[in-house]
This record gives sequence, structure tokens and C-alpha cells, in this order.
Amino acid sequence: LIVDASQASGRPISPTLFGLFFEEINHAGAGGLWAELVNNRGFEAGGPNTPSNIDPWSIIGSESSLLVSTDRSSCFERNKVALRMEVLCDSQGANICPAGGVGIYNPGFWGMNVEKGKTYSVTLYVRSSGAINVSVSLTSSNGLQTLAAENIMASVSEVSNWTKFNVLLVAKGTNPSSRLQLTTARKGLIWFDQVSAMPLDTYKGHGFRKDLVDMLADMKPQFLRFPGGCFVEGEWLRNAFRWKETIGQWEERPGHFGDVWMYWTDDGLGYFEFLQLAEDLGTRPIWVFNNGISHNDQVDTSNILPFVQEALDGIEFATGSPDSTWGSIRAAMGHPEPFDLRYVAVGNEDCGKKNYRGNYLKFYSAIKHAYPDIQIISNCDGSSHPLDHPADLYDFHVYTSASNMFSMAHQFDRTPRKGPKAFVSEYAVTGKDAGGGSLLAALAEAGFLIGLEKNSDVVEMASYAPLFVNANNKRWSPDAIVFNSSQLYGTPSYWVQCFFSESSGATIFNATLQTESSTSLLASAILWKSSEDQKTYLRIKIVNFGSNIVNLRIRVDGLEPNSVSMSGSTKTVLTSKNVMDENSFDEPKKVIPNLGLLENAGEEMDVGLSAHSFTSIDLLV
Ligand code: AHR
Repeated sequence: LIVDASQASGRPISPTLFGLFFEEINHAGAGGLWAELVNNRGFEAGGPNTPSNIDPWSIIGSESSLLVSTDRSSCFERNKVALRMEVLCDSQGANICPAGGVGIYNPGFWGMNVEKGKTYSVTLYVRSSGAINVSVSLTSSNGLQTLAAENIMASVSEVSNWTKFNVLLVAKGTNPSSRLQLTTARKGLIWFDQVSAMPLDTYKGHGFRKDLVDMLADMKPQFLRFPGGCFVEGEWLRNAFRWKETIGQWEERPGHFGDVWMYWTDDGLGYFEFLQLAEDLGTRPIWVFNNGISHNDQVDTSNILPFVQEALDGIEFATGSPDSTWGSIRAAMGHPEPFDLRYVAVGNEDCGKKNYRGNYLKFYSAIKHAYPDIQIISNCDGSSHPLDHPADLYDFHVYTSASNMFSMAHQFDRTPRKGPKAFVSEYAVTGKDAGGGSLLAALAEAGFLIGLEKNSDVVEMASYAPLFVNANNKRWSPDAIVFNSSQLYGTPSYWVQCFFSESSGATIFNATLQTESSTSLLASAILWKSSEDQKTYLRIKIVNFGSNIVNLRIRVDGLEPNSVSMSGSTKTVLTSKNVMDENSFDEPKKVIPNLGLLENAGEEMDVGLSAHSFTSIDLLV
């Protein structure tokens, strides 16, 4: 391998090359990144477009002690359903309530993770025909062990109208499959609505699950595309993600049933929160909005203006001054400063659909007119043919086998160098090569990403998909990060992305392979500056996609003589015994990068590459 590290060979890599695509799929947000513990907090699951239900809320007690139903008596206009509980038993008299009382419980998203010493803020709305004495508790999954409990007591006059209560529960034990209980032993009629339980300890106090966001931050993402994917489109438009329904006070949000990935979200993780997440990660938000097209229905271009206005309003919400109509709502939500929204995507994977071009042009001209600096992303692929419509970027998605993905390192070699640049917003090896996240898949992706680095003059951004999966709801596999209520791990694909975390904005040099194994090898070389030690490194990355060990001689030309420091140079390798090896909750570190010193670091060195491996060498220069 010959690396030409002379100034003449150096080219800048796009500063935004590698980032994140977050989709509400696999309970990535609801029951994942969004730390809300209660599942279906307003008893509205299903929503107005499918039969509403209280699932997964369940009843504590028998029919002789209480009757539970729903009605439409809530004080919240956009989510009218409330839970009605008629308690038939009492603490005295003929019908004595069972020990612990009767009521309801919510198991969260396959169990709530409650940790000893941590505080949980429980908010609920209550109305009753009499005085109340309700125990709010976090318990084990069978309710037998209480981890934290507080009582809510109020007179009839205090709760004859809907009243908000908040209790702070401090856990005296740990249990990753806990539940929230609302119980009473007092006869009477009582209604509950909008029950929320949030850990106080969230990322930057903004409601995101810390351990999951930490894994994102470690990738040093340059952008965050959200909220989908198909989630943006919906099977039917009536179930698509519409941003205006997801902002404001959480209690007021109607929630919606995502009919592509088939689950209800309370939309606690709404448009505002996505923008906040991007800001908290120090990255650029990329908003994908619905363009009047779902999987099964489309708005005619002649009727698209309300959708166009919705997009314009969304941009104003994110970027407008606090005095503007929508900017003032953002300000009221606690963020008077505009968010740094510079990119929007008109729909997702809709290019082939009948109304796409017509609708797209309406969005394009209205947005460019009102916000000339906003970059607009088209769904149509411009990698082999020029687009027939104006765009700043075009979207490119690829899900394929490992060998295809590896060979797609050359996908953009022949792309015209003029015109809009590519946003590879979804890529992954899928199918049997990938399993639930194999080393093989990750190596192929590493090869593909090396190709993107080299072509970053025509590829501005790239992100893996999907990002997250809650192991209890694998709608799509593989994914980069696997979690349940308390555990998490990165798949090999996640770790490959970390190898590229320094590439955005770095300088890339010519790196030429001159070996017999070159069909199964791909390599790149970049110069980057560490923000931690302020030192400059030459990073050489090599994928060995083949099943043979390769001894590679590396020569670096163009450096000052003796400028490579042996003591500060390292070698990191991602490999495993078997190319189909995966990580799991039992073995989360089976396939992770191994870092070591590079003792023979120099301008000329021999490096052994294990079969099926990804090696990254950092030469301190
Ligand atoms: O990443 C999973 C899905 O794949 C996305 O929702 C969609 O854009 C693509 O088809």
C-alpha cells in the first residue's frame, strides 16, 4: 500500500460526511431513546384512526372489586380518552379491598428500568366523585416487591375537576422489569389521564435516555436525519408523522399510530425534541417531512398547498424569531434561540410515485422563496443520471448483500462531478449475510464507507440505517445499536462507523494498493487532528474482506523524514473468529475494536491483516 501524504495529493473530505439517521422504528424512540417509562400514557393507543385501547395497561383486582373502562371525558381537547375506574371495594365494610388495593399498572416497554437511588418523576391527571387516596408506586413485574411509593391524597373539592399531581419516587432497589402501579382501597369513581413517569436523570435534562445518547455522541455525528424513513410517509397519510401534532405540552399531544412499523407513539419525542437532540449532540438537524405521499395514498399536486404551508411553518418553528407565529411556540417550549436547521428532505423514497415531481417542485419553489439558504434534498437518485429537477442534494438508499456492498465502494467513482451531491442517508448490509448484525456485514460496510470517503467530493453525507432496535420489537434487523430497558450494545456495524468518526472534515490522500489480494482489500488514508490531545494523525484504514491473512507492506511518501512517532502510534483492529460472529446481551464485546500500540510505526512498515478484519492505523505525525 502506497500512501501519498504530500500536500499535492490531499483533498478535503466533506465536513458533514458521517452522521446519524434516526427513525421511529423498532421502538427506537418510544420505549428507547425517549426516556418516558409509561407506554400509552393517555390511554389512547390506536388513536382516532384505529380502535383505541389501553394496552399495555392492566388491571389489579377482580370484577367484584373494580370495573375499568374508558370514556371521552378528558380535559385534553386533542386526546379525549380517559380511564374510568369504579372501585367497588373499600378499606372497611362488606367488600374489603385486597391487601395493596386495586387499580391499574403499566409495565412500560417490556419492563421499566428502575435503579436504586435514582429519582422518577410521576405526573398524572386525576378526577373523582369523592376524596381520593391513591398509591403511586414502582414495583417488580408481579407487583410483589415495592421499589418506591408515595400517596396522593385529596379532598373531593380538590379533585372534582381534573387536577394535575406530581410525585417524586426515589427507588430503594433496582429492577429492569418494573412496573408503575396506581392503586387505592377507597370506594368511589376515579378517572386517570396522561400518566407519565420520567427518570430525572436524562441526557442534558432533556428527556433522552443517557446511555443511548452517549453511544451516539461517541460516533461524533455531523448531522441527524429524522424522524424517518417510512415513519414519515405512513402506510396511509392519516397515520403519517405530522409535526404540528407533536409539539407543545406533552399532555396535549394526541399521539399517533405509526402504521408502517405498527405501534403507537405518544409523540413525547416530537419535532421539537428531535431538534433539541441534534443541538445536544452538537450536530445539524435534517428534517424529513411528509410531502403529501404515503405508501398507499397521495395528495394531488393541485391540492398540495396545505402540505407546503405545513413545511414552511415547520421551518419557521425551527428557525424563526421568537416573535414569529411558529417561532413563538418554540420559544414558549423553552427554546427562544432558533435551532440550526439548514437541510430539509422532501419525503422519503417517493421518487417513483406519480405525484412526486409535481409536489416536489411546489415545495422546492416555496421553500427557496421563503428560505433561500435552506438546502433541499430530493428523493430521486442523481448518481448515474442528472436530476430533471432542481435540488441541493439527492437521497441515495442501499440495502444489499455483503459482496454487493463491498463492491459498491466504487458506486460513486463515475458519478458526474457537477450537480447536486449525494446524501447516502440509508445504507446497510441486510439478509442472510447480516443476520442480526454480523462482522461480515460490517466489513462490507467499511469497504463501502472507504469508497464514500474517497468520493466525498460528490457524497456530502452518509448514515447507516436503522440506528436502533429495542430487542423486544425487532421490526427490522440488523441495526446499529441493540437495547432493552437496561442493557445495550453496538453491532459490528456500529463499531465500523466509529472508525470513521474522525473522517468528516479531514484531508484524504491517495492510497494505492499494489498487492495480489487487492480485490479483497480496500484502503484509505486521512490526516486528522485530535480534539482531545490536539495532535495530528495519519489514519490508514484497511479492510481485508477475504478469508486469508495478508501481510501488507505500507509505505508513506510525502512526510517530513522521521516525523512518525513510534510511541504515539496505534493500531485498532475489528475482527473475530468467525465472520458471522455477532454481539449479544450475553457477549456485548465479542466483536469490538481492539486498540494496541504500533511498535513498528514508521514511513515504511509491515502490517499483518487478519482474515476478515478491519484495521485502522493512527500514525502520530
Ligand atoms: O431503514 C428502514 C427503512 O428502509 C426506512 O424506513 C425506509 O426509508 C427504507 O425503506
